[in-house]
Amino acid sequence: MFRLQRPLPEWYSTATPDELADRIAAAKSTLGDRLLVLGHHYQRDEVMRWADARGDSLALSRLAAERRDAELIAFCGVHFMAESADILTGDHQQVVLPDLNAGCSMADMADADEVETAWEELAEVTDVERIVPVTYVNSSAAVKAFVGRHGGAVCTSSNARAVLAWALGPGPAAGARAGAGDARGDKVLFVPDQHLGRNTGFAMGWDDGDMAVWDPRQALGGLDESQVKDATLLLWRGHCSVHQRFRPEHVDGFRAEHPDGIVVVHPECAREVVALADQVGSTDFIIRAVAAAPPGAVIGVGTEIHLVHRLDAETPDKTIVSLDPLVCPCATMFRIDAAHLAWVLDGFVEGEVRNRIVVDEDTAEWARVALERMLAIR
Ligand code: 13P
Ligand code: SF4
Repeated sequence: MFRLQRPLPEWYSTATPDELADRIAAAKSTLGDRLLVLGHHYQRDEVMRWADARGDSLALSRLAAERRDAELIAFCGVHFMAESADILTGDHQQVVLPDLNAGCSMADMADADEVETAWEELAEVTDVERIVPVTYVNSSAAVKAFVGRHGGAVCTSSNARAVLAWALGPGPAAGARAGAGDARGDKVLFVPDQHLGRNTGFAMGWDDGDMAVWDPRQALGGLDESQVKDATLLLWRGHCSVHQRFRPEHVDGFRAEHPDGIVVVHPECAREVVALADQVGSTDFIIRAVAAAPPGAVIGVGTEIHLVHRLDAETPDKTIVSLDPLVCPCATMFRIDAAHLAWVLDGFVEGEVRNRIVVDEDTAEWARVALERMLAIR
């Protein structure tokens, strides 16, 4: 999705790092508790040093909702996260995204209109009442609202399994028949990350024969009627360009160099990488896995490079390296820098809210339904 960030006034693009730091510090001290700066784990250090709280996308949105006294929220992350924060916060709170071009390429792979079209096509060949739509939190508010309206829920990389169990029952790995018990349906349309959907499905005991990839660019997702009918998991053809870069060769290379090393990857990585890893989990899980590893451990991590570098810098008794020897940043997270942060904070000081993210009321209402269903499942 194309969003236009206007160029910053010249001062911000020519200021030195020290000048920007002084500006940010001054704005923070003027605004006090009225301001909350949130930093996602993938942010660069020049931004993260100013964060009042660090976290994964969901934890930060929850925090924004809990901090009712903070009427001004600078969300240093990507667009869908700022939207979630706006949905979960009160009317008196305003959320801004320092650079409007900080989107998420994966979230942009599922347009709400495409999801509507997919649903209509599915309705022609199967009973959509038995399909539960599930969207990864990395999706637009409009997609979340679609899911809310159709009885589904949001999930994160930490609770995808619980949400699929809510939708379909515990899965074959639990020895249960899919759709048994009080499951909501017997099929899930999982949007937009095929890898998170596939990895979670495998962990629950389903296999390739139970899954089909839905390509939104093709009629009926590129499937025939029987493939749609046979699939338990319809996986939207979306991916994260950062995590998809990790390959089995990276794991093999790391293991050759560090035979006792530990491999921890994010579930947005492809199935063949996840299958070789020792541990798999969300950004929060990766941080906990590093903390739990014994002193002296060498840990090869498959996730965004800023988190990997920060973990290494902040864990001096262990060595944390990226599985991919070539640096692998999230280009859109990287758009947020000290200059954009200083610019939005100066705006707050001057009484001008720059880059406010507002989700319209109807969309917000249904997206909240999908988010709250998830919160109830956890
Ligand atoms: P979290 O939900 O763990 O914050 O991850 C978001 C993300 O974009 C991972 O690529
Ligand atoms: Fe989106 Fe991937 Fe960046 Fe996460 S790392 S914000 S999924 S593009």
